[in-house]
Amino acid sequence: MKKKPIICIDGPAGAGKSTIARMVARELGLVYVDSGALYRGLAWKALENHVNLHDAWALAEMAKNTKMNFKTMEGGGNHIFVDGTDVTSQIRSERVSFHTNEIAKVKGVRKVLNEMQKALGKKGGVVMEGRDIGTRIFPKAKYKFFLDASPLERARRRFLELKAKGRRVNLEKIAHALAQRDYKDKTRGISPLRQAPDAVVIDSTRLSLAQVAKRILKFVAA
Ligand code: C5P
Repeated sequence: MKKKPIICIDGPAGAGKSTIARMVARELGLVYVDSGALYRGLAWKALENHVNLHDAWALAEMAKNTKMNFKTMEGGGNHIFVDGTDVTSQIRSERVSFHTNEIAKVKGVRKVLNEMQKALGKKGGVVMEGRDIGTRIFPKAKYKFFLDASPLERARRRFLELKAKGRRVNLEKIAHALAQRDYKDKTRGISPLRQAPDAVVIDSTRLSLAQVAKRILKFVAA
């Protein structure tokens, strides 16, 4: 039997990766993996337990001793559990978003999460999104996409998404936070956000998310 594909989707914050990866996975009957949720899950745990975010050793030890898993809920939502606690909504707070960068640059943390991600894709059949999926986690994958959009469009999308959830938000603040997060992700010494040389680049500034998903599906079907 043919091994199911691994589809890697990387790109900066707010490029639409999650929605698109979910659409593609649903359409192809593959498992959707949000690798950012794993980084966020560890950041949440570190904040909850007052772990010093500048102590690389403590963060790596914490990562080694953390159990994380995804569960598809009734109705189709994808939830993340950290040591058995459902933290799906907590990991989206501004505080966790802000501190996830600190966690993500720690070598020992990335080592643990890299293994977790590789195990999730071991049998194929996954659409995984993040920052280093095509460059580091599955460098040999056949399908790699790098999604981008203008900073203003990415901020606008995030603004609308949060507003729809009933949050009081400010477009300028969101644009600033996204720019800061991208800068840190692109300039960190370990596994920075970078486009894999063999990735298909899609600029979604003037495309709807459904149009981007359609393009990806076309590539995979070809
Ligand atoms: O994808 P999301 O925006 O939820 O990711 C949150 C943060 O986790 C990113 O800004 C980045 O610092 C980190 N991350 C990473 N590598 C990944 C996925 C996420 O460093 N593969």
